[in-house]
This record gives sequence, structure tokens and C-alpha cells, in this order.
Amino acid sequence: MRMYDLIDKKKKGQALSKDEITFMVEGYTQGMIPDYQMSALLMAVYFRGMNEEETLALTLAMAESGEQLDLSEIRGIKVDKHSTGGVGDKTTLVLAPMVSALGIPVAKMSGRGLGHTGGTIDKLESIQGFNTSISKNDFIHNVNTIGLAIAGQTANLAPADKKLYALRDVTATVDNLSLIASSIMSKKIASGADGIVLDVKTGTGAFMKDEQQSFELASEMVKIGDGLGRETYAVISDMNQPLGRHIGNALEVKEAIETLRGEGPDDLLELCVSLGSYMLLAAKRVEAVEEGRRLLLDTIKSGQALEQLKKLVEAQGGEAKAIDHTDLLPKASIIERIKSPISGYINNIMTEEIGVAAMLLGGGRETKESVIDPAVGIVLEKRLGDKVEKGETLAVIHANDEEKLLLAKQHYLSAYQIAQDQTKPIQLIKGFVSADGIIRH
Ligand code: URA
Repeated sequence: MRMYDLIDKKKKGQALSKDEITFMVEGYTQGMIPDYQMSALLMAVYFRGMNEEETLALTLAMAESGEQLDLSEIRGIKVDKHSTGGVGDKTTLVLAPMVSALGIPVAKMSGRGLGHTGGTIDKLESIQGFNTSISKNDFIHNVNTIGLAIAGQTANLAPADKKLYALRDVTATVDNLSLIASSIMSKKIASGADGIVLDVKTGTGAFMKDEQQSFELASEMVKIGDGLGRETYAVISDMNQPLGRHIGNALEVKEAIETLRGEGPDDLLELCVSLGSYMLLAAKRVEAVEEGRRLLLDTIKSGQALEQLKKLVEAQGGEAKAIDHTDLLPKASIIERIKSPISGYINNIMTEEIGVAAMLLGGGRETKESVIDPAVGIVLEKRLGDKVEKGETLAVIHANDEEKLLLAKQHYLSAYQIAQDQTKPIQLIKGFVSADGIIRH
């Protein structure tokens, strides 16, 4: 087999066989196929696309390129959740305790954030002592004893995807649905869960800004998951404003705790209940999502979900007292209010800019080497549709550096559009995708 022939074949719009795709992925990962040939192939895929079989073969070849987690020592059906990333997305911190409180094992491998979206691992590390690099044995032991564990992704998970993504990033070939879907799903497949629930974000703070494209991406990923024997569901959720009100690592942990106490923002709770009910469905714990919703809400009322979070923190070496006393979480030295320059209604938020503002404060990474400041962030006081008077507070910035504060403030203000007419309320859940098809709201 020659890479030249595969490029030529795809250039002519023909489908590649499973063997050809495996040859290409293995050859590239092992350094036998040079970047220039793989770039040409990726560009041919960009223009000619891939069919369902090709996308499945690519996902599997990337999943099999490195370590594949074996979760068979964990009793029960394991269901993973993945978000395509958004600003203020602390869903895992709420959802994992809720689902595990219902006896579903949660064995979660999470990432660190790069760019404006912070990762679950960074958020958890804002709890003093919390260890996100526990051994595989401890990971499995914790899930079998307390019902949940959350650890950082191992470096050797789908290395082919890592190498291919870096190449796509510099050859303008990231934004192809088959390539995105196979990239995300290869890591989920290698993570070893039996079922997968995807939170595909759409809007100004999402990787996919266009709603139709978000549904297409969700459909593609559901087909891959089901095609590789993992029951997969997708929820398409709004990211035209940050999720909840808190952005920044310790601030997000605080909001997650408040939500588990029943005192959190409605949108965060609603998203967790929606995603969680599909996790319960995939785990065969319920037969209908409505039943799942009720059970999940009960875990908050009974305090069981909050108890699960405490157990997680304790088991992974973190300061569990911080769950009851959130003032023990890291705090910033400068607290500054951002005032509205005019009166009106908030009618558009460039959410990505708000994420960038939080990153500039030190809450996210500009480069892989950046060191995260857990204390900094932003607390929103006004959200889409809210009325605001001139001089009223739009948000409160938590900073540790005057210069960074100034930069973040400028970004934050440029992200808000204030108009004289009130806008329609936005819908958080745009729809669902499963093997049975698409439901749009
Ligand atoms: N996230 C991924 O993991 N891969 C992509 O291709 C795009 C977003």
C-alpha cells in the first residue's frame, strides 16, 4: 500500500477501505508517513468528505493507536459524558455526583482546558490537595467503593488523534464534521465506557456556532458511538451565554456546590438533569427520561448528591471541608464591579469573549505552559434578556493582578450588546439525538 495512492483515491472522491485507513493512521502515528502526505490526504477529505464506514474506521484506528482503558473490573454499566466545551461549563462537577448517587458507576477521564474553556481537572484542582492523577488501581477502587472517580486523561489516550489534530490545526482542516466527530469519539471509545452521553454546545461561546451544524455533528457522533457498540445519546444545548453565573475554577466549584445544595442557577441544573436522564437511560437504570429527571432531582433534595461530591473530594485527597465551607476555596485579592455604560436590555453576549476575559485573568491557558490561577474569574449579574440601568453592575471580576484586570474588563465590556427592545428568552435545550433520530425543541 502506498500513501500516494490513498491521496489520489480520496482526491477523486472515492471511499477508502478500513485497511487503507488503518494503514494511514498507523503509518502516520509511527512516523512512517510524513506530514506533507497526511496534510494532502486531510485536505482531500475536507473537500470530498468521508462516508459512515470511513468515519467509523478512522475513529477505531485512532482509538486503538494508544492505551485503551479496561473498565471491566468496575461493576455495572459505565456511562461517560462529554461536552464539546463552553464557558462556565461546570456540568461534570454536578452531574457526576448526582448520577453516582443513584448507583451508576462514574469513572470519568477529563481533560485540562486549553484556550478559553477551562477543563474539569483544572476546576477540581482548585480544591486544595485534590489529586487528579491517581493510579489506575485507585481509580477503579474508588469507583467500586464510593461510586465515582475523576482523573486526568492519560497522555497515551488516542495519540494518533493528538498528532492528527495538531496537523489539522495548522493546515485549515479542523472544521470538517467527520474529522471532528471521529476525533472526539476516538478518545471516548478509548476511555472504555459502555455508554456515552454527549453535550454538544451551540452558539457564540461554542466550538460549533451554528445550530444546524451542531445537530449534524451530534448525529455523526451518535452514529459512530452506536456503530462501535456504545449506546450513545446527544443533547444539543445553548452556549449563547455562559452556563450559570460563575466563570473561573474555584468560582465554578462554588457554583457547583450551590447547585448540589439546591441553590444553584436553573440553567445549570436543567442541563445536568437532561444529560443525567440520558445517562440513566444508557445505564438501564430507567426506561424513560422523565423517570430519570425525577430521580436526579431527588438526589439534590435528599442531599445524597452533595454527599457524593464530599466522598469524591475526600477519596482523592482534597480538602472536603471546603464543600461545606466554600470560603475555604481560593479567593482573589481584587474584586471589581463592571458597570453598564448605558440602560437597556442585554440582547447579545459574545460568550467566547467572556471566556477570553476569564483566561486573561489567569483562569485559563493561553499556551500549554500557562499556569492557572484558581482564584480568578467572573461572576455575571446580568444575562440575556435582563434589563439593566446605566451604572448598574453587569458582572463582578475576581482578579489578582491590576494589569490583567484592565485587559479582562475591556474584553468583558466588548462582549455585551445592550439594546432598547427586550429580546425573546432563549431556549437552553435545543434538542436531542439518539439512534432513533433527532428531536428538536
Ligand atoms: N475537539 C476535538 O477533540 N477534536 C476536534 O477535532 C475538534 C474539537
